[in-house]
Amino acid sequence: MLDRPQNALVDPYGRTIDYVRLSVTDRCDFRCRYCMPRDIKFLPKPDILTLEELERLGSTLIGLGIRKIRITGGEPLVRRDIIRLFRGLGERLGAGLEELTLTTNASQLPHFASDLYGAGVRRINISLDSLDADNFARIARPGNFGAVMAGIEAAREAGLKVKINMVALRGVNDHEIPDMVRWCGAKGLDLSLIEIMPIGAVDGQRSAWYLPLPRVKQALEKTFTLTPSNHATAGPSRYFDINETGGRIGFITPLSEKFCENCNRIRITCTGVLYMCLGQNDKVDLRQALRCDKTGAALKAAIRGAIEKKPEAHDFETAAAVGRPAVARHMNVTGG
Ligand code: GTP
Ligand code: 5AD
Ligand code: SF4
Repeated sequence: MLDRPQNALVDPYGRTIDYVRLSVTDRCDFRCRYCMPRDIKFLPKPDILTLEELERLGSTLIGLGIRKIRITGGEPLVRRDIIRLFRGLGERLGAGLEELTLTTNASQLPHFASDLYGAGVRRINISLDSLDADNFARIARPGNFGAVMAGIEAAREAGLKVKINMVALRGVNDHEIPDMVRWCGAKGLDLSLIEIMPIGAVDGQRSAWYLPLPRVKQALEKTFTLTPSNHATAGPSRYFDINETGGRIGFITPLSEKFCENCNRIRITCTGVLYMCLGQNDKVDLRQALRCDKTGAALKAAIRGAIEKKPEAHDFETAAAVGRPAVARHMNVTGG
Protein backbone atom coordinates (compact mmCIF):
# COMPACT_ATOMS: atom_id res chain seq x y z
CA MET A 1 0.00 0.00 0.00
CA LEU A 2 1.36 3.43 -0.93
CA ASP A 3 1.40 6.24 1.62
CA ARG A 4 -1.48 8.67 1.33
CA PRO A 5 -0.55 12.16 0.20
CA GLN A 6 -0.70 14.55 3.13
CA ASN A 7 -3.43 16.50 1.36
CA ALA A 8 -5.69 13.46 0.68
CA LEU A 9 -9.31 14.23 -0.17
CA VAL A 10 -11.37 14.09 3.02
CA ASP A 11 -15.03 15.10 3.11
CA PRO A 12 -16.89 16.98 5.87
CA TYR A 13 -17.84 13.67 7.52
CA GLY A 14 -14.23 12.51 7.77
CA ARG A 15 -14.50 10.04 4.89
CA THR A 16 -11.39 9.72 2.71
CA ILE A 17 -12.32 9.80 -0.97
CA ASP A 18 -9.95 7.64 -2.98
CA TYR A 19 -12.25 6.00 -5.55
CA VAL A 20 -13.61 7.64 -8.71
CA ARG A 21 -16.19 6.19 -11.06
CA LEU A 22 -15.46 7.91 -14.36
CA SER A 23 -18.15 7.68 -17.02
CA VAL A 24 -16.87 7.85 -20.60
CA THR A 25 -20.21 7.79 -22.42
CA ASP A 26 -23.91 7.86 -21.58
CA ARG A 27 -24.60 5.67 -24.63
CA CYS A 28 -25.41 2.01 -24.36
CA ASP A 29 -26.24 -0.78 -26.76
CA PHE A 30 -28.82 -2.17 -24.27
CA ARG A 31 -31.96 -0.58 -22.80
CA CYS A 32 -32.32 -2.35 -19.43
CA ARG A 33 -35.82 -1.57 -18.26
CA TYR A 34 -34.86 -0.69 -14.67
CA CYS A 35 -32.10 1.66 -15.90
CA MET A 36 -33.49 3.83 -18.70
CA PRO A 37 -36.63 4.42 -20.79
CA ARG A 38 -36.64 2.70 -24.18
CA ASP A 39 -36.67 5.99 -26.12
CA ILE A 40 -33.91 7.68 -24.11
CA LYS A 41 -32.14 10.64 -25.73
CA PHE A 42 -28.38 10.57 -25.42
CA LEU A 43 -26.15 13.62 -24.91
CA PRO A 44 -24.91 15.58 -27.95
CA LYS A 45 -21.42 14.39 -28.90
CA PRO A 46 -19.70 17.85 -28.70
CA ASP A 47 -20.54 17.97 -24.97
CA ILE A 48 -18.55 14.82 -24.27
CA LEU A 49 -14.99 15.12 -22.96
CA THR A 50 -12.29 13.94 -25.36
CA LEU A 51 -10.14 10.95 -24.44
CA GLU A 52 -7.23 13.35 -23.84
CA GLU A 53 -9.36 15.40 -21.44
CA LEU A 54 -10.49 12.26 -19.64
CA GLU A 55 -6.90 11.12 -19.26
CA ARG A 56 -5.78 14.52 -17.94
CA LEU A 57 -8.69 14.46 -15.51
CA GLY A 58 -7.74 10.96 -14.36
CA SER A 59 -4.14 12.05 -13.89
CA THR A 60 -5.15 15.07 -11.83
CA LEU A 61 -7.38 12.88 -9.66
CA ILE A 62 -4.50 10.46 -9.01
CA GLY A 63 -2.35 13.44 -8.01
CA LEU A 64 -5.04 14.34 -5.47
CA GLY A 65 -4.99 10.91 -3.82
CA ILE A 66 -7.44 8.86 -5.91
CA ARG A 67 -6.26 5.22 -5.80
CA LYS A 68 -8.95 3.43 -7.74
CA ILE A 69 -10.57 4.42 -11.03
CA ARG A 70 -13.53 2.50 -12.38
CA ILE A 71 -14.46 3.35 -15.97
CA THR A 72 -18.24 3.31 -16.38
CA GLY A 73 -20.96 4.43 -18.79
CA GLY A 74 -23.53 3.83 -20.26
CA GLU A 75 -21.53 1.04 -21.74
CA PRO A 76 -17.90 2.19 -21.66
CA LEU A 77 -16.72 -0.17 -24.39
CA VAL A 78 -19.03 1.34 -27.04
CA ARG A 79 -16.93 4.51 -26.96
CA ARG A 80 -14.61 4.63 -29.96
CA ASP A 81 -10.89 4.09 -29.19
CA ILE A 82 -11.62 3.69 -25.48
CA ILE A 83 -8.64 1.35 -25.12
CA ARG A 84 -6.42 4.42 -25.54
CA LEU A 85 -7.77 5.79 -22.26
CA PHE A 86 -7.18 2.46 -20.50
CA ARG A 87 -3.62 2.38 -21.82
CA GLY A 88 -2.95 5.97 -20.74
CA LEU A 89 -4.36 5.55 -17.24
CA GLY A 90 -2.85 2.06 -16.98
CA GLU A 91 0.60 3.67 -17.09
CA ARG A 92 -0.16 5.18 -13.69
CA LEU A 93 -0.71 1.78 -12.08
CA GLY A 94 1.86 1.40 -9.31
CA ALA A 95 2.59 5.13 -9.61
CA GLY A 96 -0.27 6.51 -7.53
CA LEU A 97 -3.03 4.38 -9.00
CA GLU A 98 -3.71 1.02 -7.34
CA GLU A 99 -6.57 -0.27 -9.46
CA LEU A 100 -7.97 0.49 -12.89
CA THR A 101 -11.16 -1.36 -13.69
CA LEU A 102 -14.53 -1.14 -15.40
CA THR A 103 -18.19 -2.08 -15.16
CA THR A 104 -19.53 -3.38 -18.46
CA ASN A 105 -22.45 -5.25 -19.98
CA ALA A 106 -19.85 -7.51 -21.67
CA SER A 107 -21.27 -7.21 -25.20
CA GLN A 108 -17.99 -5.79 -26.55
CA LEU A 109 -15.64 -7.94 -24.48
CA PRO A 110 -15.00 -10.45 -27.25
CA HIS A 111 -13.16 -7.56 -28.99
CA PHE A 112 -11.53 -5.87 -26.00
CA ALA A 113 -10.83 -8.37 -23.20
CA SER A 114 -7.19 -9.01 -24.02
CA ASP A 115 -6.45 -5.33 -24.72
CA LEU A 116 -7.91 -4.48 -21.32
CA TYR A 117 -5.63 -7.03 -19.67
CA GLY A 118 -2.72 -5.60 -21.64
CA ALA A 119 -3.54 -2.13 -20.31
CA GLY A 120 -3.30 -3.37 -16.71
CA VAL A 121 -6.93 -4.17 -15.91
CA ARG A 122 -7.17 -7.32 -13.75
CA ARG A 123 -10.69 -7.44 -12.30
CA ILE A 124 -13.90 -6.36 -13.98
CA ASN A 125 -17.60 -6.25 -13.09
CA ILE A 126 -20.13 -7.52 -15.60
CA SER A 127 -23.85 -6.78 -15.40
CA LEU A 128 -25.89 -9.94 -16.02
CA ASP A 129 -29.49 -10.05 -14.85
CA SER A 130 -30.60 -13.36 -16.33
CA LEU A 131 -29.24 -16.67 -17.62
CA ASP A 132 -32.35 -17.28 -19.66
CA ALA A 133 -32.00 -15.83 -23.18
CA ASP A 134 -35.69 -14.86 -23.38
CA ASN A 135 -35.83 -13.30 -19.95
CA PHE A 136 -32.53 -11.51 -20.64
CA ALA A 137 -34.06 -10.00 -23.79
CA ARG A 138 -37.15 -8.89 -21.86
CA ILE A 139 -34.97 -7.06 -19.34
CA ALA A 140 -32.32 -5.59 -21.69
CA ARG A 141 -34.79 -4.86 -24.56
CA PRO A 142 -33.26 -6.83 -26.18
CA GLY A 143 -29.53 -6.63 -25.41
CA ASN A 144 -27.42 -9.37 -26.94
CA PHE A 145 -27.34 -12.48 -24.78
CA GLY A 146 -25.03 -14.41 -27.10
CA ALA A 147 -22.44 -11.61 -27.15
CA VAL A 148 -22.61 -11.29 -23.35
CA MET A 149 -21.94 -15.00 -22.86
CA ALA A 150 -19.07 -14.83 -25.37
CA GLY A 151 -17.80 -11.69 -23.60
CA ILE A 152 -17.70 -13.42 -20.22
CA GLU A 153 -15.70 -16.30 -21.72
CA ALA A 154 -13.36 -13.87 -23.49
CA ALA A 155 -12.70 -12.08 -20.19
CA ARG A 156 -11.86 -15.33 -18.41
CA GLU A 157 -9.61 -16.46 -21.24
CA ALA A 158 -7.80 -13.12 -21.15
CA GLY A 159 -7.06 -13.68 -17.44
CA LEU A 160 -9.49 -11.07 -16.09
CA LYS A 161 -11.17 -11.84 -12.78
CA VAL A 162 -14.91 -11.36 -13.23
CA LYS A 163 -17.62 -10.33 -10.78
CA ILE A 164 -21.20 -10.62 -11.98
CA ASN A 165 -23.64 -7.88 -10.95
CA MET A 166 -27.29 -8.90 -10.94
CA VAL A 167 -30.02 -6.39 -10.09
CA ALA A 168 -32.61 -8.39 -8.13
CA LEU A 169 -36.03 -7.69 -9.63
CA ARG A 170 -39.17 -8.97 -7.93
CA GLY A 171 -41.28 -11.06 -10.29
CA VAL A 172 -38.75 -10.63 -13.11
CA ASN A 173 -35.56 -12.53 -12.27
CA ASP A 174 -35.85 -13.46 -8.58
CA HIS A 175 -36.67 -17.07 -9.49
CA GLU A 176 -33.29 -17.27 -11.25
CA ILE A 177 -31.14 -16.23 -8.28
CA PRO A 178 -30.30 -19.78 -7.02
CA ASP A 179 -29.32 -20.82 -10.56
CA MET A 180 -27.16 -17.72 -10.91
CA VAL A 181 -25.43 -18.62 -7.62
CA ARG A 182 -24.68 -22.14 -8.91
CA TRP A 183 -23.62 -20.94 -12.38
CA CYS A 184 -21.21 -18.35 -10.96
CA GLY A 185 -19.90 -20.94 -8.48
CA ALA A 186 -19.23 -23.45 -11.26
CA LYS A 187 -17.37 -20.83 -13.33
CA GLY A 188 -15.42 -19.38 -10.41
CA LEU A 189 -17.04 -15.94 -10.71
CA ASP A 190 -18.02 -13.76 -7.75
CA LEU A 191 -21.60 -12.53 -7.72
CA SER A 192 -23.15 -9.36 -6.31
CA LEU A 193 -26.87 -8.88 -6.03
CA ILE A 194 -28.04 -5.26 -6.16
CA GLU A 195 -31.23 -3.61 -4.89
CA ILE A 196 -32.96 -1.53 -7.54
CA MET A 197 -32.53 2.20 -6.90
CA PRO A 198 -34.97 5.01 -7.77
CA ILE A 199 -32.70 6.87 -10.21
CA GLY A 200 -34.27 8.51 -13.28
CA ALA A 201 -37.76 7.80 -14.62
CA VAL A 202 -38.30 4.53 -16.51
CA ASP A 203 -41.20 2.94 -18.44
CA GLY A 204 -43.21 1.38 -15.62
CA GLN A 205 -43.20 1.48 -11.81
CA ARG A 206 -39.80 0.62 -10.43
CA SER A 207 -41.16 0.17 -6.92
CA ALA A 208 -43.03 -2.94 -8.09
CA TRP A 209 -39.65 -4.58 -8.86
CA TYR A 210 -37.98 -3.70 -5.56
CA LEU A 211 -36.81 -6.74 -3.66
CA PRO A 212 -35.12 -6.24 -0.26
CA LEU A 213 -31.97 -8.36 -0.29
CA PRO A 214 -32.11 -9.49 3.37
CA ARG A 215 -35.20 -11.44 2.29
CA VAL A 216 -33.30 -12.96 -0.65
CA LYS A 217 -30.42 -13.91 1.64
CA GLN A 218 -32.80 -15.64 4.03
CA ALA A 219 -34.32 -17.63 1.18
CA LEU A 220 -30.89 -18.59 -0.18
CA GLU A 221 -29.87 -19.83 3.26
CA LYS A 222 -32.44 -22.62 2.94
CA THR A 223 -30.25 -24.10 0.17
CA PHE A 224 -26.78 -22.64 0.69
CA THR A 225 -24.57 -22.11 3.75
CA LEU A 226 -23.43 -18.49 3.78
CA THR A 227 -20.69 -17.38 6.16
CA PRO A 228 -19.46 -13.77 6.38
CA SER A 229 -16.34 -13.43 4.24
CA ASN A 230 -13.37 -11.28 5.09
CA HIS A 231 -13.15 -10.41 1.38
CA ALA A 232 -13.74 -6.68 0.89
CA THR A 233 -13.26 -4.31 -2.03
CA ALA A 234 -13.48 -0.55 -2.28
CA GLY A 235 -17.16 -1.04 -3.24
CA PRO A 236 -20.28 -1.39 -1.08
CA SER A 237 -20.88 -5.12 -1.55
CA ARG A 238 -20.92 -7.18 1.68
CA TYR A 239 -19.60 -10.64 0.91
CA PHE A 240 -20.40 -14.15 2.16
CA ASP A 241 -18.62 -17.40 1.34
CA ILE A 242 -20.86 -20.12 -0.07
CA ASN A 243 -19.92 -23.57 1.24
CA GLU A 244 -21.69 -25.57 -1.43
CA THR A 245 -20.12 -23.81 -4.45
CA GLY A 246 -16.81 -22.63 -2.99
CA GLY A 247 -17.74 -19.20 -4.36
CA ARG A 248 -18.73 -15.87 -2.90
CA ILE A 249 -21.88 -13.75 -2.94
CA GLY A 250 -22.12 -10.04 -2.19
CA PHE A 251 -25.18 -7.97 -1.33
CA ILE A 252 -25.43 -4.30 -2.36
CA THR A 253 -28.23 -2.92 -0.18
CA PRO A 254 -28.60 0.86 -0.62
CA LEU A 255 -32.22 0.73 0.57
CA SER A 256 -32.49 -2.04 3.14
CA GLU A 257 -29.06 -1.55 4.77
CA LYS A 258 -27.64 1.82 3.91
CA PHE A 259 -23.84 1.96 3.57
CA CYS A 260 -23.28 5.71 3.07
CA GLU A 261 -21.28 6.12 6.28
CA ASN A 262 -18.41 4.26 4.60
CA CYS A 263 -18.66 6.08 1.28
CA ASN A 264 -15.25 6.56 -0.32
CA ARG A 265 -16.22 7.59 -3.84
CA ILE A 266 -17.34 10.26 -6.26
CA ARG A 267 -18.61 10.07 -9.81
CA ILE A 268 -17.75 12.10 -12.88
CA THR A 269 -19.94 12.09 -15.98
CA CYS A 270 -18.67 11.98 -19.56
CA THR A 271 -19.34 15.72 -19.83
CA GLY A 272 -17.11 16.44 -16.83
CA VAL A 273 -19.74 16.98 -14.15
CA LEU A 274 -18.65 15.70 -10.76
CA TYR A 275 -21.54 14.31 -8.68
CA MET A 276 -20.68 14.00 -5.04
CA CYS A 277 -23.36 11.33 -4.41
CA LEU A 278 -25.18 8.87 -6.68
CA GLY A 279 -28.51 9.77 -5.12
CA GLN A 280 -28.23 13.56 -4.70
CA ASN A 281 -28.10 16.50 -7.07
CA ASP A 282 -25.00 18.18 -5.64
CA LYS A 283 -22.54 18.70 -8.48
CA VAL A 284 -19.58 20.70 -9.72
CA ASP A 285 -18.94 21.18 -13.42
CA LEU A 286 -15.24 20.57 -14.11
CA ARG A 287 -15.33 21.04 -17.87
CA GLN A 288 -14.52 24.75 -17.91
CA ALA A 289 -11.55 24.26 -15.58
CA LEU A 290 -10.40 21.25 -17.61
CA ARG A 291 -10.63 23.08 -20.95
CA CYS A 292 -9.48 26.57 -20.09
CA ASP A 293 -6.87 26.32 -17.35
CA LYS A 294 -3.71 24.68 -18.64
CA THR A 295 -1.88 24.78 -15.28
CA GLY A 296 -4.41 22.45 -13.66
CA ALA A 297 -4.71 24.62 -10.56
CA ALA A 298 -8.36 25.54 -11.19
CA LEU A 299 -9.24 21.91 -11.82
CA LYS A 300 -7.67 20.78 -8.55
CA ALA A 301 -9.39 23.58 -6.66
CA ALA A 302 -12.75 22.66 -8.20
CA ILE A 303 -12.34 18.99 -7.21
CA ARG A 304 -11.31 19.89 -3.65
CA GLY A 305 -14.25 22.29 -3.43
CA ALA A 306 -16.63 19.52 -4.47
CA ILE A 307 -15.33 17.11 -1.80
CA GLU A 308 -15.86 19.80 0.82
CA LYS A 309 -19.55 19.77 -0.11
CA LYS A 310 -20.12 16.01 -0.33
CA PRO A 311 -23.53 15.19 1.18
CA GLU A 312 -23.79 12.77 4.07
CA ALA A 313 -26.08 10.22 2.39
CA HIS A 314 -28.64 9.49 -0.30
CA ASP A 315 -32.35 9.66 0.46
CA PHE A 316 -33.64 6.79 -1.69
CA GLU A 317 -36.02 5.69 1.09
CA THR A 318 -38.16 8.81 0.79
CA ALA A 319 -38.15 8.69 -3.01
CA ALA A 320 -39.03 5.00 -3.07
CA ALA A 321 -41.80 5.52 -0.52
CA VAL A 322 -43.47 8.15 -2.70
CA GLY A 323 -42.79 6.20 -5.90
CA ARG A 324 -40.70 8.97 -7.45
CA PRO A 325 -37.04 8.93 -8.62
CA ALA A 326 -34.66 10.46 -6.05
CA VAL A 327 -32.83 12.21 -8.89
CA ALA A 328 -33.90 12.85 -12.48
CA ARG A 329 -30.68 11.72 -14.17
CA HIS A 330 -30.41 8.05 -15.09
CA MET A 331 -27.77 5.55 -14.02
CA ASN A 332 -26.23 5.67 -17.51
CA VAL A 333 -25.40 9.35 -16.93
CA THR A 334 -23.93 9.02 -13.43
CA GLY A 335 -22.23 5.71 -14.14
CA GLY A 336 -23.71 3.44 -11.48
P1 GTP B 1 -16.13 -3.57 -6.49
O1 GTP B 1 -14.88 -2.80 -6.61
O2 GTP B 1 -16.06 -4.85 -7.24
O3 GTP B 1 -16.61 -3.75 -5.10
O4 GTP B 1 -17.21 -2.74 -7.28
P2 GTP B 1 -18.31 -1.72 -6.89
O5 GTP B 1 -19.39 -2.41 -6.14
O6 GTP B 1 -17.76 -0.46 -6.36
O7 GTP B 1 -18.76 -1.37 -8.36
P3 GTP B 1 -19.89 -1.91 -9.24
O8 GTP B 1 -19.82 -1.19 -10.52
O9 GTP B 1 -19.89 -3.40 -9.28
O10 GTP B 1 -21.13 -1.42 -8.41
C1 GTP B 1 -22.26 -2.15 -8.46
C2 GTP B 1 -23.41 -1.27 -8.17
O11 GTP B 1 -23.39 -0.93 -6.80
C3 GTP B 1 -23.36 0.08 -8.84
O12 GTP B 1 -23.74 0.02 -10.14
C4 GTP B 1 -24.38 0.79 -8.05
O13 GTP B 1 -25.60 0.33 -8.50
C5 GTP B 1 -24.04 0.26 -6.66
N1 GTP B 1 -23.17 1.22 -6.02
C6 GTP B 1 -21.83 1.36 -6.15
N2 GTP B 1 -21.41 2.40 -5.39
C7 GTP B 1 -22.51 2.90 -4.80
C8 GTP B 1 -22.75 3.99 -3.92
O14 GTP B 1 -21.85 4.72 -3.53
N3 GTP B 1 -24.02 4.21 -3.54
C9 GTP B 1 -25.04 3.45 -3.96
N4 GTP B 1 -26.25 3.74 -3.52
N5 GTP B 1 -24.87 2.43 -4.80
C10 GTP B 1 -23.63 2.16 -5.20
N1 5AD C 1 -30.79 0.39 -9.65
C1 5AD C 1 -29.78 -0.48 -9.36
N2 5AD C 1 -28.83 -0.81 -10.24
C2 5AD C 1 -28.88 -0.25 -11.45
N3 5AD C 1 -28.06 -0.38 -12.50
C3 5AD C 1 -28.53 0.42 -13.50
N4 5AD C 1 -29.64 1.07 -13.09
C4 5AD C 1 -29.89 0.66 -11.82
C5 5AD C 1 -30.88 0.98 -10.85
N5 5AD C 1 -31.84 1.85 -11.10
C6 5AD C 1 -26.88 -1.24 -12.47
C7 5AD C 1 -26.56 -2.01 -13.71
C8 5AD C 1 -25.08 -2.21 -13.59
C9 5AD C 1 -24.62 -1.06 -12.76
C10 5AD C 1 -23.74 -0.10 -13.49
O1 5AD C 1 -25.77 -0.40 -12.29
O2 5AD C 1 -27.17 -3.25 -13.81
O3 5AD C 1 -24.75 -3.41 -12.93
FE1 SF4 D 1 -26.85 -0.18 -20.48
FE2 SF4 D 1 -26.00 -0.87 -18.07
FE3 SF4 D 1 -28.13 0.68 -18.29
FE4 SF4 D 1 -28.29 -1.91 -19.03
S1 SF4 D 1 -27.89 -1.11 -16.95
S2 SF4 D 1 -29.04 -0.11 -20.19
S3 SF4 D 1 -26.28 -2.28 -19.83
S4 SF4 D 1 -26.08 1.23 -18.88
